[in-house]
This record gives sequence, C-alpha cells and structure tokens, in this order.
Amino acid sequence: MQRFEGRVAVVTGGASGIGLATVRRLAAEGAKVVIADLDEAGGKQAAESVGGLFVRTDVTSEEDVKALFKAAHDAYGRIDVAFNNAGISPPDDDSILDTGLDAWKRVQEVNLTSVYLCCKYVIPYMREQGRGSIINTASFVAKMGAATSQISYTASKGGVLAMSRELGVQFAREGIRVNALCPGPVSTPLLQELFAKDPEKAARRLVHIPTGRFAEPEEIAAAVAFLGSDDASFITASEFLVDGGISGAYVTPL
Ligand SMILES: NC(=O)c1ccc[n+]([C@@H]2O[C@H](COP(=O)([O-])OP(=O)(O)OC[C@H]3O[C@@H](n4cnc5c(N)ncnc54)[C@H](O)[C@@H]3O)[C@@H](O)[C@H]2O)c1
Repeated sequence: MQRFEGRVAVVTGGASGIGLATVRRLAAEGAKVVIADLDEAGGKQAAESVGGLFVRTDVTSEEDVKALFKAAHDAYGRIDVAFNNAGISPPDDDSILDTGLDAWKRVQEVNLTSVYLCCKYVIPYMREQGRGSIINTASFVAKMGAATSQISYTASKGGVLAMSRELGVQFAREGIRVNALCPGPVSTPLLQELFAKDPEKAARRLVHIPTGRFAEPEEIAAAVAFLGSDDASFITASEFLVDGGISGAYVTPL
C-alpha cells in the first residue's frame, strides 16, 4: 500500500517506541516524514533511515513547536498528518498520595500541553490546505481506572481525549480530522525491563488482557497509518482503542 505517496507527516516522539514504528510505517507507505524529538542521536538516526527530516524539538516549548511545523512546511510544502505522540511516564508519578506537584506538572506539560501546542500550530497549515489528519496519543487508561495509579499520566491522557474530541468536532467541516489513539500496554523496552524485574507484576497485568499479551509497536503504528490515511475519511472526534480487548473485558480467558 502507498497511501501516503506525495504526503507529509510529522511525528513527535519519533525517535523511539510507538513513534519510531510509525515513522517507519508511514515512510514505507510513501510519506515524507518529519521526526521531532528531544533525543538528537535517535531522531537523526530515524530520519536517516527513512530519508526524512529530524527537527530537534521540546514539545513543551511553544517556540520549538511553532518552529517544528514551520520547518516541516518549509521543507515539503504541506503537512497532511500530525501524530502528536511524545509522552512520558516517570516513576515519581504514582498514587495521588505520593505524587508531588512537580511531578504532576511535568507530566501535564509533556503529555497534555504539548498536544495543545502541536494542534494549535499545525491546524493553520491544514486549514490552508483544506485537509489534514491529526492523531493524538492518549491511552486506554483515559478510559479505565487502575489500582496501580499514575495519577498525572491518567489525568493528562483524559485531557488528550477530551481535547481531541472537541477539535475533531470544531474543524470537521474544514476537512481536518482529529482522533485520539488509545493504545493498550505496548511491549516497549521500558515495559519489558520493568516486568523482567518483577514477573508477578507482569502476570497481574496480563491477566486483564483478553489476547494475553502486550501490543507490538508496529500494531499501534498500523492503526496510526489507518487513521492518517483516506481509508479513515469518515472517522473523526473518535476514541480509537487499540487495546487487545482490555476495555471490553469483564472475565478473560484462562
Ligand atoms: N508504551 C505503552 O505501553 C503505551 C501505552 C499507551 C500509550 N502510550 C503513549 O504512547 C506514546 C509513546 O510512548 P512510547 O511507549 O513509544 O514511549 P518511548 O519512551 O519509547 O518514546 C517516547 C519518545 O518521546 C520523546 N520525548 C519525551 N519527552 C519529550 C519532549 N519534551 N519533547 C520531545 N520529545 C520528547 C522521547 O525522547 C522518546 O523518543 C506516549 O504518549 C505514551 O504515553 C504508551
């Protein structure tokens, strides 16, 4: 499939995990890809591997985000897809009883304010073109409660969900689609390391997943490619779950 021939995509957090898998998928389908990340080495490597552009960006900085979309537009003349995906999940964001205001604010800035900034500065380009697809990474935790709390993370993803819905509605008649992507747990190095140290903790999580495994980053990238493409032309303001059935489950198979 070459659904992105002649199209341009910007991916934040494109140096690692879900973002990197998406960079590869979109490029494989013909897109010119702009990678935005704090990680210069990883970002440059990702860009080189797909013949794209790396723009060093801190997604919490208004100036950086403005410059990112300008650089993408200057380089390729258009922006068809914005995958606003960079996010963090630090260990000091935990139960509300233990999480300090600093950790709360840092997670809100990186996970939620960044999405506000990216949407704010990409939408004008998309309005000019009369088309565009924005995919904001939320999480299944925006939809479900967890006893293993990361309170600011969960609240930030709930914010991403509500903001994406509102923008999807506001700009629907201008040809701009905005969707929130809600991945279930994904098998990234961080998660693998965490659970290798504590197999009991891993088993406790896995029991809730009907499919009995975590997602691979490529499976999330495939959903982003769908939402970014014309195949999803009537999908906007949605909460797009790619969660292996977690949010639908009451009792899971043994
Ligand atoms: N991994 C999961 O299980 C999972 C599940 C649901 C949702 N998510 C969400 O998916 C997104 C990607 O997660 P991942 O697992 O691929 O993470 P990851 O840590 O592998 O990648 C995140 C990337 O974002 C970059 N980044 C962090 N802060 C940044 C900043 N201020 N400016 C620019 N770049 C920054 C990092 O350098 C990194 O390259 C996040 O929003 C995360 O919350 C992940």
